[in-house]
Amino acid sequence: FDTNAFQQSLLEWYQSNKRDLPWRKDQDPYKVWVSEIMLQQTKVDTVIPYFQRFITKYPTLNDLADADQQEVLKTWEGLGYYSRARNLQNAVREVVTEYGGEVPSNPKELGSLKGVGPYTKGAILSIAFNQPEPAVDGNVMRVLSRVLKIDDDIAQPKTKKKFEQIVSKLISVEDPSSFNQGIMELGALVCTPKSPMCMLCPVQEYCRAFADGVEEDLPNKSKA
Ligand code: ADE
Repeated sequence: FDTNAFQQSLLEWYQSNKRDLPWRKDQDPYKVWVSEIMLQQTKVDTVIPYFQRFITKYPTLNDLADADQQEVLKTWEGLGYYSRARNLQNAVREVVTEYGGEVPSNPKELGSLKGVGPYTKGAILSIAFNQPEPAVDGNVMRVLSRVLKIDDDIAQPKTKKKFEQIVSKLISVEDPSSFNQGIMELGALVCTPKSPMCMLCPVQEYCRAFADGVEEDLPNKSKA
């Protein structure tokens, strides 16, 4: 497997095909954080207007830290999973009191914040701080289970850990942000759950599932 060639094909495709999403306008760790929390249980198209309203109301981390929690929850209304909003504001307040208002770029400190699990931590470290850290969600597991033809059950926590190990080796150290977002984008636009568009895929030549005609059988997800 040619890791360098895989990275290059993915990065070139991402450069020309990435959607113009509001959280991709800058690398502000606070905005990356807000967007990644919103995107965890909610689709991109739904998140866009909520993200824009949220950032207009709370443009900086300090604005969110100072805001009334009921008001924050009202702004979150419609997105659901309100504990996300409560955890986010509590964690942002902790950043103000413990880290002088700067989102920590240290994995241990970042990961200790309320609501910042391995996925969110990796997304912030890679997208905002250009650190080569994995950010593995369902999209990423789908894409890589196909490319590498891995049939481990993605509902198992140890499978996610396995993919984190894999991404740690596969990620571009030159552009970790585009690498992680490129895999997410490929999963959203091309390597879709049903009827993936393999003919349009920039990494088709590296895809073991495509070679064997089993792309629709992966990922393997056990039913609860
Ligand atoms: N899903 C989760 N994070 C995302 C991001 N940064 N861009 C697009 N879709 C996403």
